[in-house]
Amino acid sequence: MKSQKRKKITVLDFLEMKEADEKISMLTAYDFPMAKALDEAGIDAILVGDSMGMVVYGQKNTLPVKVDDVIRHTQAVSRGINRALLIADMPFLSFGLPEIALKNAGRMLKEGNANAVKLEGGRERKNTIELLVKNGIPVMGHVGLTPQYYNSFGGFKVQGKSATSAKRIIEDAKILEKAGVFSIVLESIPWTIAKIISNEVDVPTIGIGAGPYCDGQVLVSQDMMGFFKGSPFSFVKQYAKVWDIMVDSTHKYIEDIKKGIFPTTNHSYDFPEEDLEKIKELYKN
Ligand code: KIV
Repeated sequence: MKSQKRKKITVLDFLEMKEADEKISMLTAYDFPMAKALDEAGIDAILVGDSMGMVVYGQKNTLPVKVDDVIRHTQAVSRGINRALLIADMPFLSFGLPEIALKNAGRMLKEGNANAVKLEGGRERKNTIELLVKNGIPVMGHVGLTPQYYNSFGGFKVQGKSATSAKRIIEDAKILEKAGVFSIVLESIPWTIAKIISNEVDVPTIGIGAGPYCDGQVLVSQDMMGFFKGSPFSFVKQYAKVWDIMVDSTHKYIEDIKKGIFPTTNHSYDFPEEDLEKIKELYKN
């Protein structure tokens, strides 16, 4: 637990942790209370993911999320963090051209107080990543199942399952490393391929549905904590059932109100006796 003693985590710590063989823990957060809890628990990095489109706004994929959405949520999350590295996700079409990416990523750091940005894609992001890194914006890459390619992939589908596809992802990871990323998310690829990538690149790999041989792991907090009804995705380990807590406590609340159990006078405020007599006098009827 060496990292928990550290002060604020930086991108340099990420690299040191890989060298020291220390696994990196990362979760998503989109608001102040979640960020505060994760930071208090000692998480190494918090991602304000564009997954907010689905788990906060109820959209069917991440495509509708806007730069302003990510900035607003990153600001809220930043207020809850003392120690974790704060990474803001670049939403769909916010980094298609390097100059546009620079402007939008700059806003994530200047307005959102992020320490770094994450962006999806492989070799086609090389120039963009180089420009951002040259300008002091640390970049986390993201290959494999990149949800912003939802329409091109024909849905949320595991990637890297053929030799051609696996080789392309491995080569993409190496290109991203060369372009200057400080870390790479590997999403929904076979663990064998994730292991090869983690050995091939010197920057830490952060897996989600990519098996145990990545240098760190990330999950969407709402999945990990069981915010939603039903079984989690197969790649998720659920550590709590927040859905049950929300529904059970709401049932109890409704029942207490209906039965007159809540509130009692203890849930309100006292009024001075002598003044009460005067008031009662005024409203005798
Ligand atoms: O948006 C997100 O939450 C992500 C993680 C799943 C890596 O990109």
